[in-house]
Amino acid sequence: MAKEKTATLTIDKKTITMPIYDGTEGPSVIDISALYKDTGYFTYDPGFMSTASCDSKITYIDGDEGILRYRGYDIDTLANNNDFLDVCYLLLNGDLPNATEKKIFDREITLHTMVHEQISFMFRGFPRRSHPMALMVGSVASLSAFYHDSLDIHNPEERKLAAFRMIAKMPTIAAMCYKYSIGQPFMFPDNDLGFCENFLYMLFATPCEKYKVNPVLVDAMEKIFILHADHEQNASTSTVRLAGSSGANPFACIGAGIASLWGPAHGGANEAVINMLEEIGDVKRIPEFIKRAKDKNDPFRLMGFGHRVYKNYDPRATVLRKTCKDVLNAVGKKDEPLLAIAMELERIALSDEYFIERKLYPNVDFYSGIIYRAMGIPSNLFTVLFAIARTAGWVAQWKEMIEDPKQKIGRPRQLYIGATARSLPKKGKGKPNAKAAKGKAAAKKAAPAKAKSAAKAIVKATPKAKAKIVAKPAAKSVKLVSVSKKSAAKSTSSSARKTAKR
Ligand SMILES: CC(C)(COP(=O)(O)OP(=O)(O)OC[C@H]1O[C@@H](n2cnc3c(N)ncnc32)[C@H](O)[C@@H]1OP(=O)(O)O)[C@@H](O)C(=O)NCCC(=O)NCCS
Repeated sequence: MAKEKTATLTIDKKTITMPIYDGTEGPSVIDISALYKDTGYFTYDPGFMSTASCDSKITYIDGDEGILRYRGYDIDTLANNNDFLDVCYLLLNGDLPNATEKKIFDREITLHTMVHEQISFMFRGFPRRSHPMALMVGSVASLSAFYHDSLDIHNPEERKLAAFRMIAKMPTIAAMCYKYSIGQPFMFPDNDLGFCENFLYMLFATPCEKYKVNPVLVDAMEKIFILHADHEQNASTSTVRLAGSSGANPFACIGAGIASLWGPAHGGANEAVINMLEEIGDVKRIPEFIKRAKDKNDPFRLMGFGHRVYKNYDPRATVLRKTCKDVLNAVGKKDEPLLAIAMELERIALSDEYFIERKLYPNVDFYSGIIYRAMGIPSNLFTVLFAIARTAGWVAQWKEMIEDPKQKIGRPRQLYIGATARSLPKKGKGKPNAKAAKGKAAAKKAAPAKAKSAAKAIVKATPKAKAKIVAKPAAKSVKLVSVSKKSAAKSTSSSARKTAKR
């Protein structure tokens, strides 16, 4: 990370200089860490739209170009030439393993596939109808109870052991979540099988019959896990880093990551694809839904199409499109109605001007949802499978953070818009019970108004000089200059109003 250029900011008639760091690829960053100390201002960036929270050597994404790389390797190269454990090794260590390293790594992971017997008793405390992600959050976080006293996160060997345990036990716990929900006995891992083969075995085998896993499904699972293994600083990964920054137990941190992944805005999209296909119900109804997707007055969107980051073809979708066809052929479900709807939807959307113009290609969730469906995996288990894969990235990112000498506890700041200092109402002069009885509804009604006036008070109290950024792309540097007090005050009050609304 070379420190060569600088940006200057003029605010309240004071000019400060901030270093600019260039990465090896992608946007450079302005180091604002001294801003508060030097000026008394915080930056404001809900959703981290422009904020890098760390530097990292693990994953690179260029959404405009449709690029996703782990440690410099293109995702499709890895998915087509490597297995998931190669990729775990790569994410953790920075390079792909040679033959000897691979043999040792695979064996070490395999030796940790079993979970403590107490975990199976813990499952029995949950209702059978529990969402598998609820079981997953609880059981993975509970691993911290089994590996806490013996774990020193500042010891590299113990970090390595914790990483192996997390990667190895995830499929076992995920399969237990499924078996518990359908009332079948838990299957022990079979250490003669590969990582993905073993997972499918624990998912679908029963103690009553011999079960041979279809190699096409194993190959599809390896690919899906590779494609989902990491995606740089997304919500769940940032959650793992933030939880881990306090020095917390890594198993508990991965539990926090799973909780974050559970949300429909993150790991739940492929489930939404299946729900949409079920809602469409018949190939004949596709034009009706395409029409709705284009209608600006209709909130309906084609699930599994478009992506916030990839404004080109999602490189992961390219890999899965072929895998999807292989799986449908292998399981003889080419003609299943839901899958027929998916294939026809894909065909129409890829040739429709609306979708072409807006670069709304099918994304990775479109194909993974269809593949899982064809494999016979229920839709409420989709996010659980995502969690198995993403554990590789979470663990690698956690390890990178702990090993970073610059690492600090994560502690965002805030723009406070609540009440200013006030005294307690005098006894007997506060809201009397009779008035309070007028109902909580009245109090509720008053609340937004209070927030609004508080926001106004803050705007008044805020020093008026503000700043705007003038980018000079040619020089690849940024100069920040002060602007008129009037326009600054206006923009602050509007952003404060927006904040008050939230
Ligand atoms: C992923 C998603 C949230 C990205 O949204 P975004 O980057 O904010 O894109 P925008 O909302 O700015 O959309 C750009 C345009 O495409 C349209 N559009 C985006 N996704 C669409 C979809 N799935 N169906 C129909 N129209 C869509 C928008 O209406 C907008 O049209 P306009 O320019 O005429 O107003 C969005 O594409 C979406 O909701 N997809 C479906 C959900 C999904 O599959 N999510 C999983 C992502 S991995």
